[in-house]
Amino acid sequence: MNMRHGVVAALLLSSAVAAFAADGAAPADAKAPAADGTGSVNPAIWPSPKWPFPADPAMEARIKALMARMTIEEKVGQIVQADIASVTPADVKTYHLGSVLNGGNSAPGGNEEAPPIEWLKLADAFYDASVDKSGGGVGIPVIWGTDAVHGHSNIVGATLFPHNIGLGAARDPELIRRIGAATAIEIRTTGQEWTFAPTITVPQDFRWGRAYEGYSSDPKLVSSYVGAMIRGLQGEPNSGAILKGPHVIASTKHFLADGGTYEGRDQGDARIDEVTLRDIHGMPYVAAIEAGVETVMTSFSSWNGIKIAGHRGLVTEILKERMNFGGFVVTDWNAHGQVAGCTNASCPQSLLAGIDMFMAPDTWKDLYASLVKQAKDGTVPMARLDDAVARVLRVKMRMGLFEAGRPSSRPLSGKFQMLGAPEHRAVAREAVRKSLVLLKNSGSVLPIKPGAKLLVAGDGADDIARQSGGWTITWQGTGIDNSAFPGATSLWKGLSDAVTAAGGRAQLSPDGSFTQKPDVAIVVFGETPYAEFQGDLKTLRLRTELEKPFETMRKLKAQGIPVVALMITGRPLFVNPAINASDAFVVAWLPGSEGGGVADVLVAGRNGKTVAGFTGKLPVAWPVNAKVDGPTLFPFGFGLTLADQTPAGQKLPEDPGVEDAGAAGVFMDRGQPQPLWSLYVQQTEADRTRITTVPAKAASGRVTVTPTDHVVQEGARRFAIESGASRIEVSSHAPVDISRESNGDVALVVSLRRDTALTGPISLAMQGGGKMGSLDAAAIGQLPQGEWVRLGVPLKCFAAAGVDMSSVQIPFALSLGGRGALSISRVALGTDSDKLLECRK
Ligand code: BGC
Ligand code: BGC
Repeated sequence: MNMRHGVVAALLLSSAVAAFAADGAAPADAKAPAADGTGSVNPAIWPSPKWPFPADPAMEARIKALMARMTIEEKVGQIVQADIASVTPADVKTYHLGSVLNGGNSAPGGNEEAPPIEWLKLADAFYDASVDKSGGGVGIPVIWGTDAVHGHSNIVGATLFPHNIGLGAARDPELIRRIGAATAIEIRTTGQEWTFAPTITVPQDFRWGRAYEGYSSDPKLVSSYVGAMIRGLQGEPNSGAILKGPHVIASTKHFLADGGTYEGRDQGDARIDEVTLRDIHGMPYVAAIEAGVETVMTSFSSWNGIKIAGHRGLVTEILKERMNFGGFVVTDWNAHGQVAGCTNASCPQSLLAGIDMFMAPDTWKDLYASLVKQAKDGTVPMARLDDAVARVLRVKMRMGLFEAGRPSSRPLSGKFQMLGAPEHRAVAREAVRKSLVLLKNSGSVLPIKPGAKLLVAGDGADDIARQSGGWTITWQGTGIDNSAFPGATSLWKGLSDAVTAAGGRAQLSPDGSFTQKPDVAIVVFGETPYAEFQGDLKTLRLRTELEKPFETMRKLKAQGIPVVALMITGRPLFVNPAINASDAFVVAWLPGSEGGGVADVLVAGRNGKTVAGFTGKLPVAWPVNAKVDGPTLFPFGFGLTLADQTPAGQKLPEDPGVEDAGAAGVFMDRGQPQPLWSLYVQQTEADRTRITTVPAKAASGRVTVTPTDHVVQEGARRFAIESGASRIEVSSHAPVDISRESNGDVALVVSLRRDTALTGPISLAMQGGGKMGSLDAAAIGQLPQGEWVRLGVPLKCFAAAGVDMSSVQIPFALSLGGRGALSISRVALGTDSDKLLECRK
């Protein structure tokens, strides 16, 4: 364990152990995995919270009667969940599917910006199909799950609350309850009844790309929010059918220790003992169970080498038997396929481990077929299948789903004025105010005085997607402009409105230039949106290309203009140069749609007072450099008010303490191979040339490599081939594991420009585990000449072509059969291509 977290963890451990001591539990060491690989545990050391729903004999009798009429096929259907991009209402009817979901990139008709009515219509279509008994079957209504993780965040016009990390700074459980309640109402307008939230992870290593989905690194703080959020979403347990009220069912995720993986790696392995597992990652589940959370989603990750989706000890013995969880357990997106011995198409192991529903987005049909077979041949005992089905039905009955009718007929359905309703936006705005953390305050630059001339700089100042982060309209939260956020307020808009109302003037200037000297400047900077593994970092440093605004701050200061640095971020990062270059430093986290909340704290009205003061406290310690085990600069709980003054002249060290390791998943950028990667050109093994400086001649002079401009000066490399078949390649001696990226629709995205006609065949290959998989790339020869295009090649295609994605040594090898020239600026994993290559060998 590293030092910084070690200290925090040690403090937590002592109190957590004390809290659980009532159980008379004796801490035990981690035990070796069970010989069968399903995980051994020591349930006796775990707490045993009370499940709030009393046994209901009438409901049990009803479930029994229903199940007596169900075929094996119908039972299996109940425990399979498909993604709306890969399933039709007719399929739901035919296969009696129990649930559908929309993944981060799925939407009605494939349109991410589909109007709310389309979501509701589709909900009706799935519902109608599920209860249609014309082809036989008992007709159990389907439930639709969605990632409403910071508001109903897949829907255009919804209120977007700050991501959880910002809420952690607010230290206000009652606010969390109101956020849950508002989110549930917005979900109900479009007909869904299940959110995959709250994420109750307890991130320990903030290089993890999902750290912002967690409230805090402190299990006690997380635990204090969990019950409030669940009650907000689901209502009080036993207060009547969930769907009768303005509620939806919740799902706490990702069970267990998704935030405890080694090196903060997404979908990685938590290498910790059972006591640490319990006291850090397990603690919030106590509150979740006591609040009656209806579903729990298992994690993609492993605990000491065993994938949770196949971990019988954790799922059955601890969660269900010891901790009394009485809802159902759902897996994550094809996570069952990662369990030892499983594939996406077949995984009885997960069901045996205690999973009750499989999230099998695009693989549901094969999985369904294998489960039916396994239930018939006894691989899966009928008792286990029946238990899973009964759990799903119990949740559906507690929801009142059987009596609720079509989605469009239910309370709140179609009341689209509730999406982004003023009262919801007011809650979000309050959350933004309370989440702001003031890290530096020298002089009296804040609050901005009435009548001031304000300059707002930084490229993130007027960008609602940027301030909203991942899981916003799209999975990654990228590729969306302000027009997709009707009713939302950017940071710039909020600041400008407030300054103008107080009799001042505001100017937006991304690069910080101005015509009239301002009294004060706010420079907005920080992270750009990401989700899941695409946000994993190798060090705690803001990506260097995002550090440009630091220069803007220095320039403004040099001209005697007081500077307020406003950071958009999902996590604490080394940004000392920005702290040094500013007079006041404010962390805004990922505030969401209500940018006006920032102005409420930063800008004084005509009466000289702000709407609110700074009350936010760090939900995680802030590092002094980019080393993960480096010392802390600001401890957990730190947060200034305007009454506090940072000592004048304080200068923080500007050495990040680490080499720039580059971003994960980027192989070449701005024409340069990234650290650990090399660029080669060859015609034969003998003339293979490593390109370090340009211009360069390769392949016995038949290929010329020159710099060319793209975005920045010399931001690309131009390859001109005089004759012969050539290969352009990016490779490394240290292979990378990109198997998890290959699991969805992530692509290898190559930014290139065809400069002349290209003769001969073209192919694009990847090599992993010694196996080269090559795809037809003739399409490159057809790209518009002279235009930059981001060409995407789905990683799935390479996997299908035989590449071992867990050990990729050459992510990019472009073979050109003849003469011609093209330029390349970037080769990286991503979902932001302009054009996708078809999967053809
Ligand atoms: C994520 C989950 C999410 C699910 C459905 C997975 O990739 O890990 O958090 O709920 O997809 O979109
Ligand atoms: C995400 C889904 C997303 C998919 C795209 C998954 O990991 O959770 O929500 O749509 O990847 O490939």
